[in-house]
Amino acid sequence: MKKYYITTPLYYVNYMPHLGHAYTTVAADVLARYMKSKKKEVFFQTGTDEHGINIERTAQAYNKDPKQWADEIVIHFKDMWKTLHIEYDYFIRTTDKEHEKQVQLIFEKLIDNGNIYKGNYEGLYCSSCENFYEEGEIIEGMCPIHKKPIERISEETYFFKLSKYQDKLLRYYKQNPQFLSPSYRALEIIRFVENGLKDISVSRTRVKWGIPVLRDPSHTIYVWFDALLNYITGPGYRIDKPDDSFYNIWPCDVHFIGKEIFRFHAVIWPAMLMALDLPLPKKIYAHGWWTVEGEKMSKSRGNVINPIDIVREYSSDVFRYFIFREVPFGQDGDFSYQALKNRYNSDLCNGLGNLFSRVLSMVKKYCQNIMPESPNNSRLIEYFLAVEKEIDKDMEDLNFSLALDKIWKKISYMNKLIDEQKPWELAKTDPEKLKVFLSDMIWGLRMIAKWIYPFMPETSVKMSMYLAIGETKDKIIGDEKISPLFPRKN
Ligand code: MSP
Repeated sequence: MKKYYITTPLYYVNYMPHLGHAYTTVAADVLARYMKSKKKEVFFQTGTDEHGINIERTAQAYNKDPKQWADEIVIHFKDMWKTLHIEYDYFIRTTDKEHEKQVQLIFEKLIDNGNIYKGNYEGLYCSSCENFYEEGEIIEGMCPIHKKPIERISEETYFFKLSKYQDKLLRYYKQNPQFLSPSYRALEIIRFVENGLKDISVSRTRVKWGIPVLRDPSHTIYVWFDALLNYITGPGYRIDKPDDSFYNIWPCDVHFIGKEIFRFHAVIWPAMLMALDLPLPKKIYAHGWWTVEGEKMSKSRGNVINPIDIVREYSSDVFRYFIFREVPFGQDGDFSYQALKNRYNSDLCNGLGNLFSRVLSMVKKYCQNIMPESPNNSRLIEYFLAVEKEIDKDMEDLNFSLALDKIWKKISYMNKLIDEQKPWELAKTDPEKLKVFLSDMIWGLRMIAKWIYPFMPETSVKMSMYLAIGETKDKIIGDEKISPLFPRKN
């Protein structure tokens, strides 16, 4: 059976991982965990983008060889993913020998089949984006994204015949409306392609830190051309020894990216795949950007958010919850510690945490720690099963904040039911009814534990342990004191 294939961008190793990188990677992990919980086999790939002038210069500034520099930064990315409980299947580095070899062979193939040709490039380049610009796109001599002076370069280069794919791309977008996601970002890409595509330069003679073109080693391969190919070299595309097992993974189901690199993924990447005669990915999902208290996050502003700090103060689950609850996935959002604290107190301590400890302490007190058996005709269960279908739909559509919103509405609903039913009174007046009520509550919590799993795996497992999920009869919770899911913070 084909695996469900999910990717993140490969992150540049010129900077330590931060909130932005974590956002995309946790999104991919949320989907991966969700798919696994639905019994799908998943292949989840992330990694690092290690070539190019930008990294060469950064390493130089620190007096390091670029590979040695990359080796050091990669450790920080891997540590961060461990801290955030990212369960990736494969971590690829563009300096991996096999990747480098395949990129070289692919480049040769594309020269041979007429998709890459040699010419001369003259134009504008921003090394921070590793991107070429047209005169009309730059603002007062500056890169529109980095606001840094643009470089004028002129050199012999190999071109990729992007122009040839204009119509084919437009047709593909039309026939596959899910491909460019979310749909409100699609128009920009379609317009861009409709305006006419130019062939792009895919080699550099002045950048030493890159993969050399096999037949012409004075050229190194353009960093984006190299990096995009990770999506196929990782799962085993081998031009020199084709192996069908690659198709157990490819085509990709979702490429998660940030909105600023949508064009590379939605235009250049599919054209490269067309040139290689490979099937195209099913979906490219471009999410929005985080600002920090209204400002762009940047080293120079000193406002870069390190998720590790948040994990230290709260937990990985709290971080994961916050970033998908606070902002609709896809749109831009603003991070602030105050908003994080508010969510923690209201949604987690007073919401889920409170519900959980209320129910468990009642089971302790009124049922001598024995989980009450559930009746077959519980209205709450029926209701929650219907809600589950809606949550599944949200998850499949990558509407993560909608899914969380629905889950938290049910948490409030259960808290409200407790207030209304007053189980402490039922204990005196109608103990049988109390048992039924508590068994419903337990079932509700079990469903909630299942629903939050992709976002908050640790909390979910902890809840499930107490709720004795998986056991059949006499579900007994331990005698030990139940520690709160989310300790109160002042
Ligand atoms: N190396 C390229 C990608 C190559 S993929 C074949 C690159 N790397 S990057 O290190 O700059 O990472 C970019 C990604 O980090 C963005 O696409 C986005 O996923 C994430 N983010 C970086 N800063 C961000 C925010 N402030 N907010 C949200 N995500 C952002 O581009």
